[in-house]
Amino acid sequence: MAADDHCDVIMVADPAALAETAADRVMARIEANQARIAICLTGGSSPKQLYALLATDAYRSRIPWDRVHWFIGDERAVPPSDPLNNMAMARRLLLDAFAPTANIHPIPTGAESSEDSAARYTRELATFYGSDRLDEARPLFDVVLMGMGPDGHTASIFPDYPAMTETEHWVVGVPTANVAPFVPRVSLTFPVLASCREMLFQVAGHDKHAILTRVLAGENLPAHRARSNGHTVWLVDKAALSGEPSL
Ligand code: 6PG
Repeated sequence: MAADDHCDVIMVADPAALAETAADRVMARIEANQARIAICLTGGSSPKQLYALLATDAYRSRIPWDRVHWFIGDERAVPPSDPLNNMAMARRLLLDAFAPTANIHPIPTGAESSEDSAARYTRELATFYGSDRLDEARPLFDVVLMGMGPDGHTASIFPDYPAMTETEHWVVGVPTANVAPFVPRVSLTFPVLASCREMLFQVAGHDKHAILTRVLAGENLPAHRARSNGHTVWLVDKAALSGEPSL
């Protein structure tokens, strides 16, 4: 991926620096918007340090909690009580202590199929946005956080899955996952994820080096296809970029 005006690759020393840089970028986006703010969180292990950092006094005291709404980019079809549930992880580390419940927007998982969950979340997003048509001049999200899996997936959009080319639906059910955990998923699609001021990837660890190299070289993998209509930033640590384990 060639870095251009809208896409930057930023290298930091290690996962702690990654979390700190991500937290500062999220705060900058929050502080730039004096009205209602929408942040789309991500699951997996990469954002855990970020969420824990945002919960510390230095950050949480600067967040206008009543004006910030929290969404999630993809979910595993497990109940909120399951440790695999992405939004439950974010709630535990950050949201439940500070965010008004009405501002937390989980993807509903429970009895319904992942297609039904997707349809319900589409309605929730469109109601929040105030239209079922996205306008490039009015992004849905201020920030979309993203991770990248070992196969180059992002959110729950896996290589060569139909969701790769989805342009109509905002949210889709994904019946089978390409990597663990092998449970059905629900995922926002590229056009909806793109509707943001900033898309912020976090990638750490030498085990991500091979797939990161392929994605940055422009291979047609989901993580390469995911772009913001605004600014896309890849925050990567030294180990992920060099392939050498950190000391
Ligand atoms: C999920 C995710 C997924 C994740 C990547 C990276 O539900 O699993 O949202 O897209 O971000 O797989 O995961 P790690 O951070 O654990 O490497």
